Amino acid sequence: NQPDAAKIGIVTVSDRASRGEYEDLGGPAIDAYLRQVLTSPWTPIARVIPDDRETIEATLRQLCEIEDCCLVVTTGGTGPSERDVTPEATEAVCDRMMPGFGELMRKVSLEKVPTAILSRQTAGLLGDSLIINLPGKPKAIAECLDAVFPAVPYCIDLMN
Ligand code: MTE
Repeated sequence: NQPDAAKIGIVTVSDRASRGEYEDLGGPAIDAYLRQVLTSPWTPIARVIPDDRETIEATLRQLCEIEDCCLVVTTGGTGPSERDVTPEATEAVCDRMMPGFGELMRKVSLEKVPTAILSRQTAGLLGDSLIINLPGKPKAIAECLDAVFPAVPYCIDLMN
């Protein structure tokens, strides 16, 4: 881990994964995706947390404001069930929303699965960090990131 490497937060939001009942597949899938697409050095900071709004908000704040991650990618908790609160937590901590990310990810996902409409995934800016929500299904990760990733380094450049 190089001292100057950009930090990237990878947050798995899942009650069951955080209790150890599920293996966390989403976090490692995001890590593997970023390893393939990023050419400059970066350091992942991974967290596995329950579907609890306060915990999600505190984790996002810590990764953006204390760890100074330029990017935080979450997976899970974007659906319609009562425990799905990742988009609300993201909106609560962000200074400004970036609605185009959610719109585009849902559009491309709908070409693969009709249930993509159920994801309320969003994105926003907290200070100079970009937060992007992804659905919890591991296969959704590359499907969604392929669509939006071309804009991510540019967005981070514009904020810094
Ligand atoms: N998006 C993609 N690309 N691929 C998927 O399989 N699953 C959908 C949707 N978006 C899916 C997807 C389903 S079934 C649900 S319920 C919602 O994401 C929300 O998932 P989450 O609550 O795990 O975030």
